[in-house]
Amino acid sequence: MKQFISAADVNDIQALVSQALEYKQHPLLHKTLGQHKRIGLLFLNPSMRTRLSTQIAAQNLGMEAIVFNVGQEGWALEFEEEAIMSGSTVEHVKDAAPIMGQYFDVLAIRTFPSLKNREDDYSELFIRQFIKYAGIPVVSLESATLHPLQSLTDIITINECLKANPLPAGRKPKIVLTWAPHVKPLPQCVANSFSQWVNAWGEADFVITHPEDYELDTQFTNGATITHNQEEALKDADFVYVKNWSTFNNEYGKIYCNDPAWMLTNAKLSRTNNARVMHCLPVRRNVELSDEILDGPNSVVTQQASNRVWAAQAVLSNILQSK
Ligand code: CP
Repeated sequence: MKQFISAADVNDIQALVSQALEYKQHPLLHKTLGQHKRIGLLFLNPSMRTRLSTQIAAQNLGMEAIVFNVGQEGWALEFEEEAIMSGSTVEHVKDAAPIMGQYFDVLAIRTFPSLKNREDDYSELFIRQFIKYAGIPVVSLESATLHPLQSLTDIITINECLKANPLPAGRKPKIVLTWAPHVKPLPQCVANSFSQWVNAWGEADFVITHPEDYELDTQFTNGATITHNQEEALKDADFVYVKNWSTFNNEYGKIYCNDPAWMLTNAKLSRTNNARVMHCLPVRRNVELSDEILDGPNSVVTQQASNRVWAAQAVLSNILQSK
């Protein structure tokens, strides 16, 4: 694996899941693989799970991890080619990234979308420029449109749940991605990425449900059944993935409908096949997801977040082995 920015960078998702689950059983299996190697974790935006789990994963492989909160502590970076830097940006990525490429063996980056200009966000300029100028493998810690480490974690967690409670032979799990209300417009990254990975994995009956006007980019959702009827979507679901996202079509990055009736409750969950409930976290309680669900027996959100370590470890291991 030369980089990890989307499902397209993975040849065999199931093999990567198996490797991650092996690390879960034996965290120090390859404790010297990353010896004398260094990963730079660059955060242009906040994080808790991604930052800590990736540091732990690197440590389990014997790799040194250095965190740099570029967004708060670094020089303001310019990403546009041929920019006249007379504004607030201080250093161009074409000057900064090659230096990081000398300091580190792997570079991992978190950068959120602006939600102001769809074309800019969906061009993935920030992460593309790091790939272009760093000269070393780049790992996405969430980019403008995708969150691949989260999605790999989600597939790992679904696999674990299916192993613990197998479905009848030959039946694929029904996985429902449902939109949920929120107080502010959020990126489409997690929903895009989850859709891309479930489709690429190919082992599920995949349904996406959201209010009108919340259609996601079809490059990620093609292959899924899409409906505005949440009640119908939830029927017989084995997994329900809850997530808010802002509008993609028409007016980009906005909240149109914010109907609290879209929040998942135990009454709605009763329509499912005792579905496991997933969320990437952080979550706004009783806005995006109810206390009764989050604190109830069907929630796997903590298991999901703990699996972030094994997802990151499997990815770093693959990158180290291909260097
Ligand atoms: N799910 C996730 O990426 O969490 P953080 O933003 O805390 O890293």
